[in-house]
Amino acid sequence: MVNDSMKVPTWLLVALVLGAASAAACGDASKGPLPASSSPASSSAAGPSASTAVNEVAKTLAAGVKLDADDPTTCEACHSAVVAEWRESQHARANHASDGVYAALRALRIEKQGPGIPEKCATCHNPRDTKDHDSAPAKTGVSCATCHQIDGVHLEDGKKGVAALTTTKDVRFRGPHDIADGTSPVHASGPSLPELKDGKTLCLACHGEEKNPAGVTTCSTGTEHASSGETRSCTSCHMDEVQGPSGPVSSRTTHRSHRFRGSLLALRTGQPGILAEAVELSGTFDGKRFVAKLENRTGHAYPTGFPGRTAMLEIRGLDAKGEEVYKNLASDPMKDHPEAVLNMAFVDAEGKPALAAFATKQVRDNRLKPAETRSIGVDIPDTVAKVELRLRFVLVPGPLAKAISYEGPETKPIVLPAVTVAR
Ligand code: HEC
Ligand code: HEC
Ligand code: HEC
Ligand code: HEC
Ligand code: HEC
Repeated sequence: MVNDSMKVPTWLLVALVLGAASAAACGDASKGPLPASSSPASSSAAGPSASTAVNEVAKTLAAGVKLDADDPTTCEACHSAVVAEWRESQHARANHASDGVYAALRALRIEKQGPGIPEKCATCHNPRDTKDHDSAPAKTGVSCATCHQIDGVHLEDGKKGVAALTTTKDVRFRGPHDIADGTSPVHASGPSLPELKDGKTLCLACHGEEKNPAGVTTCSTGTEHASSGETRSCTSCHMDEVQGPSGPVSSRTTHRSHRFRGSLLALRTGQPGILAEAVELSGTFDGKRFVAKLENRTGHAYPTGFPGRTAMLEIRGLDAKGEEVYKNLASDPMKDHPEAVLNMAFVDAEGKPALAAFATKQVRDNRLKPAETRSIGVDIPDTVAKVELRLRFVLVPGPLAKAISYEGPETKPIVLPAVTVAR
């Protein structure tokens, strides 16, 4: 180290010391130990000298690092920014020890569908330890190793979750770049993994399509994406490009965020984030009617994912003084304005409303289809001078919360920014 340290740029040495410190302190690492102003951009355009420097830092760090593939804390010294982002993500909270909604539905399903449930769920929610016993809840959810300690993704024969991933026996991590073995002193590397690099195939192992035991499709993000001919990858929207390297060992100036933007992240951070980009709202007055236009900007249905998700279009009419004289969601929306409720509904064998998990049939799918533009018209009083349009996004609606005996912030609507249209 002493001799070679001369070749290592100062910023890397700073990173090294801070990186090691933050690894030891664990918890909430900063956005990487690098001050933004001393980004390695100019000095290290991925030439041989840059990679030598990276290599040396990695080796230096390795001296004090004991690697445990299932413990992201041990990746922190070298990949600090990514680890900090991942900790904020829902992937880090996907198991029943950390996600109350999942824990509640899982418990109800164990009660109704038997002891085989935990292992079934864990194949996607805690893939590195599918035993996932209640007595010893596994701690990592969808971890680094889940996505990186693999040699391929096999979606044939309906394989799902960890069963679709070929996990390597040695600790070999592959990512979006070709990295020669020996570059990292604490783990093996390899050529870039095509199924990860395409930003989609890896995701489909868990986000493809899911059916309940009666064969009813409950979740279909992957098929929605495929059916629309959407060419943008999952990661192009859900792993946004952010400034700064992924950690002290990277010589790149940007990386893709591991916060995996979604509705749960929006709820936790109090920032609408990706939810604000989902639907473009506009509207026109047409005599006694107001017609709202909704353009689905996601790469799949809206809302997608877990079958309870519900978005409601609120249309508020204000008079010239700004007083509210009309509101479509004033009474029971499902009774009076079902067209404004974007969701799915399911029934059991007796035709009674049921959770998707226990349903025998889907009876409603009023979500926006991929790439769909939909018009929703309402009668409004003559006194309406302007209309405020907004979406209210509910992760866990009342009836679902009641059925799984869950109370928490997911039951409250996320109120998205309004668009105002004047007459
Ligand atoms: C759900 C799957 C998933 C999980 C979990 C995950 N990653 Fe990644 N990771 C990816 C994908 C996809 C990319 C490629 C993004 C892109 O297109 O550049 C990536 C890229 C990377 C890179 C390359 C960064 C760069 O400089 O470009 C590193 C390093 C990395 N991940 C480390 C980690 C670590 C450490 C963890 C755990 C804290 C982790 N990943 C968790 C999917 C995942
Ligand atoms: C002592 C430093 C060190 C530690 C600790 C470490 N790595 Fe790495 N890792 C490296 C280096 C160096 C590279 C090559 C980086 C580069 O060229 O950007 C690398 C590359 C990677 C890549 C490929 C990234 C890409 O751009 O394709 C992945 C994935 C990865 N590491 C995952 C992990 C995970 C997961 C852990 C923790 C379990 C971990 N690493 C711990 C040093 C480390
Ligand atoms: C091993 C299974 C698995 C893989 C592979 C996987 N995910 Fe996930 N993902 C999950 C699970 C499980 C959840 C939900 C966790 C929960 O809420 O309990 C989730 C949640 C999400 C969310 C919602 C986040 C939020 O804040 O609401 C997004 C977005 C997401 N994943 C994107 C991706 C992308 C993009 C990829 C591919 C790079 C990917 N996932 C790969 C299992 C996986
Ligand atoms: C063009 C951008 C875009 C693409 C491409 C895209 N998504 Fe999304 N995704 C969004 C937006 C915006 C939302 C938030 C609205 C919603 O929940 O439907 C979202 C929501 C999600 C959610 C969270 C659902 C929830 O519970 O709220 C998951 C999971 C998800 N996407 C997975 C994927 C996967 C997997 C792919 C690829 C097969 C993909 N997305 C492709 C934009 C995109
Ligand atoms: C094939 C993979 C897969 C399997 C198997 C699976 N899930 Fe999921 N689950 C997901 C993904 C992906 C998401 C994220 C979708 C989203 O964010 O809307 C999710 C989301 C959820 C959510 C919403 C969590 C929240 O915080 O809002 C619950 C609840 C849930 N799953 C319960 C279960 C239960 C219970 C089982 C077992 C009976 C199970 N899942 C099996 C992939 C799976």
